[in-house]
Amino acid sequence: MPGIVIVGAQWGDEGKGKATDQLGDRVDYCVRYSGGNNAGHTIHVGDQKYVMHLLPSGILNPGVTPVLGNGVVIDLDVLYTELDELAERGAEVSHPLISSNAHVITEFHRTLDKVTERFLGKAKIGTTGRGVGPAYADKVNRVGIRIQDLFDESILRRKVEASLEQKNHLLVKVYNRRAIEPDEIADHLLSFVDRLRPHVADTSRVVNDALDQDKVVLFEGAQAHHLDVDHGTYPYVTSSNPIAAGACVGAGVGPTRIDRVIGIAKAYTTRVGSGPFPTELFDEDGDKLREIGAEFGATTGRPRRCGWFDALVVESAAKANGFTDVFLTKLDCLTGWDKIPVCVAYEVNGVRHDVMPYSQTDFHHATPVYEFLDGWTEDISGCRTFDELPANTQAYVKRLEELIGCRISGIGVGPGREQSILVHDLL
Ligand code: GDP
Ligand code: IMO
Ligand code: MG
Repeated sequence: MPGIVIVGAQWGDEGKGKATDQLGDRVDYCVRYSGGNNAGHTIHVGDQKYVMHLLPSGILNPGVTPVLGNGVVIDLDVLYTELDELAERGAEVSHPLISSNAHVITEFHRTLDKVTERFLGKAKIGTTGRGVGPAYADKVNRVGIRIQDLFDESILRRKVEASLEQKNHLLVKVYNRRAIEPDEIADHLLSFVDRLRPHVADTSRVVNDALDQDKVVLFEGAQAHHLDVDHGTYPYVTSSNPIAAGACVGAGVGPTRIDRVIGIAKAYTTRVGSGPFPTELFDEDGDKLREIGAEFGATTGRPRRCGWFDALVVESAAKANGFTDVFLTKLDCLTGWDKIPVCVAYEVNGVRHDVMPYSQTDFHHATPVYEFLDGWTEDISGCRTFDELPANTQAYVKRLEELIGCRISGIGVGPGREQSILVHDLL
């Protein structure tokens, strides 16, 4: 009964989409359990490139049932645009199932996301502006709107009105914006009802039944450990729990159903938006990583901040998520450096830290202590076995494995579906 979770080990964009797609043909259900369309998961199939924001990446494998769990926040415009675009491109996709308990993102969440960021000024989080934070805030405040509310018009209208009452005061009096008409929101949501009806299900039961029948269920994490609202670099985080345990909450399965947790880590580090990042590079090496790795956000197009591999960041994710395996992506992007720095400790006010400090103030002031590993010049994008990799590349992987305390079972050597090395079977 394999329940497998895929989790980002850094600050997102590690290549979770590619890893998910890769396992695709052996998977029966692919479940998104947290986040919304703040995610951007890229998949290359032949010469076709797909970017999934809301739909699970497994959708591109016919035979996989895609599921949006209760922990996801759903912008219905985005959902149907994504499905329509896939259909237009002739992709053969299965019918997605949507949890009746999932919350919706509406226009006022998007508006609030943008105005709060503007008001924060220099202290802004650098959100994706998709309304994700305000939708989760409503959920926790118990004024959110769930998918199932759309099927009871009078309840829906009452809930939208209640949810907007306070927000309209805020929008008008504090943010100097126009008030939003509750009926406009409710009418828009109701326009999706007929299309939505066949998709809605008790997805927790569906997934648990599938596990009972020995089906393979892949829980596809979005964002990453260090963007987790509890475990990340708060407040520079997203508003949900992308960590592996979030799969239990966000899909409605018990911890006993998870057999494997695969951490996805880039062979270097990137981050989008604000927040501390000790190994960030501001020199030509940073520009070179951005150029070689095409490090521009899949959702907002923003240039990603780039830096060297930070073993402390990935090690702490490995611990808190219980990684059984790591998939190391974008190793091909490190070709061509004479020496590759890897952060093995921090120095904070003259004190050495061998693990991530629990104090955010210390983390903000952390200076990386680097170990310089030998680089390689050979093109590794065609390698398909570990033995084919140059000796220095193998040594880089082995050293990372030691530092993060978890075996590296997969290695990405290019964006293509086939451009991977499987060291240990992932299923
Ligand atoms: P996700 O959000 O974790 O799914 O990652 P993104 O799709 O936002 O960003 C990862 C980027 O790296 C995408 O453009 C992928 O196509 C690309 N990618 C993934 N794995 C590899 C790899 O091993 N090598 C290279 N060169 N690119 C990769
Ligand atoms: P994937 O799944 C990288 C970041 C934003 C911002 C912070 C909060 O593609 O790895 P939000 O819109 O969630 O309130 O923004 O989180 N962020 C991501 N960064 N990859 C992502 O998703 C992200 N999703 C959110 O840039 O700093
Ligand atoms: Mg991404």
